[in-house]
Amino acid sequence: MHKLACPKCHQTLQLEEKTYKCNQNHCYDIAKNQYINLLLNPDKSCNNPGDNKESLLCRKNYLNQGYYDVILNEVVSYIRHHYQPNMHILDLGCGEGYYTYRMKQELGDDCTFYGLDISKDGIQMATKYTKDIYWIVGNSKNLPIQDHSLDVITALFTVVNESEIKRCLKENGYMIHVTANNKHLVEFKELIYDEVKIKSDEHIRLPFETIKSYDFTKKIHLKNREDTLNLLKMTPHFYHIKKERRYVLDTLGEFDVTIDIRITVYKI
Ligand SMILES: C[S@@+](CC[C@H](N)C(=O)[O-])C[C@H]1O[C@@H](n2cnc3c(N)ncnc32)[C@H](O)[C@@H]1O
Ligand SMILES: [Zn+2]
Repeated sequence: MHKLACPKCHQTLQLEEKTYKCNQNHCYDIAKNQYINLLLNPDKSCNNPGDNKESLLCRKNYLNQGYYDVILNEVVSYIRHHYQPNMHILDLGCGEGYYTYRMKQELGDDCTFYGLDISKDGIQMATKYTKDIYWIVGNSKNLPIQDHSLDVITALFTVVNESEIKRCLKENGYMIHVTANNKHLVEFKELIYDEVKIKSDEHIRLPFETIKSYDFTKKIHLKNREDTLNLLKMTPHFYHIKKERRYVLDTLGEFDVTIDIRITVYKI
């Protein structure tokens, strides 16, 4: 049985034909492509919240080349080592869904997966991978998930909300948080900015008990211009290129780039 809850009152949602309903009769229809929109009206006020379609498409094309599967493998191997039957796993800010889909492939049908993102375009793309995941348009600040019902939350390069994580994880559940370190994609930064700023990463440490935390670095070789541009366009750096630096885009071809991330497993 799924762990979905009403985003208005947090009571359990029950599926009646093609509509999810709570006891208070709040109703949410399943969309044509089999996702559920559980985003409340105030969150929709900005017309298209979350990543835009072009960036999501670049992300999809890039990730499907397998360059970042080294990141996926780290996450999957932790979950596999702590495997329990019938786990409920939420991928927060899942974007276009690649990691969620691949986690499901790797970990098997015994786990129930939820992929949630505030971007409707992202979730619509995600439904193309498989319908066997609960694809949810929702806000990580108000998760449409029952209290203390999840075994695992994964959050890869996305915003998280501490109190919602605490509310939704089971007592013995854990969260895998993947964040970028200063040297992540540093070759793009050197190309784009006059000065590469070293930022403090304290703001991304969460106030939970750390079970494990380690840096993962690897240099990867992007085979051609298309892959290089896709990676650049799925990052905010692309949108920060000054007009007078735009010429660098024409010069891009195959490219060596550094993955520099921190993987932290938290217990609440
Ligand atoms: C950098 S992308 C990472 C996507 C995916 N995890 C990946 O690594 O491919 C960040 C994602 O967080 C989503 N996002 C931003 N704010 C959010 C929120 N409040 N609730 C849910 N998702 C959000 C964006 O729409 C975007 O898809
Ligand atoms: Zn309700």
